[in-house]
Amino acid sequence: MKRKKLIIDCDPGVDDALMLAYAAAHRDAFEILGVTTVSGNQDIEKVTRNALDLTSFYGMDVPVARGMGTPLVKEPQYAPETHGESGLGSCTLPLSFREAEKEPAVVFIYRTLSGLPEGEKATLVATGPLTNVAVLLRLFPEIKKKIEEILFMGGSLCGGNVTPAAEFNFYADPEAARIVLHAGIPLVMCGLDVTEQCTLTRGQILKLCQSGYPVARACGDMMGFSLENTSEKYRGETSVHDVVPLMYLLSPEIFSGTPQILDVDCSDGPARGAVLGGFRWWRNEESEANVFALTGADREKFQESLISALYNET
Ligand code: RIB
Ligand code: CA
Repeated sequence: MKRKKLIIDCDPGVDDALMLAYAAAHRDAFEILGVTTVSGNQDIEKVTRNALDLTSFYGMDVPVARGMGTPLVKEPQYAPETHGESGLGSCTLPLSFREAEKEPAVVFIYRTLSGLPEGEKATLVATGPLTNVAVLLRLFPEIKKKIEEILFMGGSLCGGNVTPAAEFNFYADPEAARIVLHAGIPLVMCGLDVTEQCTLTRGQILKLCQSGYPVARACGDMMGFSLENTSEKYRGETSVHDVVPLMYLLSPEIFSGTPQILDVDCSDGPARGAVLGGFRWWRNEESEANVFALTGADREKFQESLISALYNET
């Protein structure tokens, strides 16, 4: 089977780290052309350091390019309570000797996509704020013809996790999210509606932490930090948000969703970063939809697929 060409844009981040582990476990299905980083969970230097260390730790021989260090308009707001000061909880990985690409992420993505053979495209998977993707589309609008689709973890139709209205990635850079939503590229939104159904339980995390497999143990350690240092500890399980876009590419049958006509609130009010819109079958045509939004997941199948990948039993 021809592997799907991917560029992964992320802000590792503990759940971004499990997403990269999932990608590494499925190199039979994914040809990862590169990993780019964006300011989000932690500052750009930390998330880039983490991306280098994670890809080396997972045995992924892929270029890593450093992206935007601030959102388009506002100042960055990091998430140390969920991801720790390093961005990977309290997990310490071997230091990678590799360095990030010399060119910035947006130029790396443009050059990589432009270099694809005539008629070939790649898929973008974004699991941090959409700043890099928005700048790419603004600087190089012609590159849209080389993008198959964009799957992103972000937004929410059911209220927020950083404010009552907004999910973290959209709140961090709503102007970027709006640019992507209106770019006319096929989009799959993996918002909180679906990602909060995609969890690992405390028991599953504990078992990972006691594993003899280094990747499984490190991922358990990282998710354990998020579980025990946030209100997720009362749930007894924690969402692994960023794995969803990749797992949907591989196993769409685990998920369900609907076409939506969506926008983002970019005001300075209490709704900043909120997703606006919906879809009424009796008023709207599916052709008007700008996003396919995932809304449902089989939690057990998600957990089974993720855990087997972390033990690399795929
Ligand atoms: O709201 C969850 C998202 O914000 C995830 O991508 C997580 O890594 C953080 O970036
Ligand atoms: Ca993320």
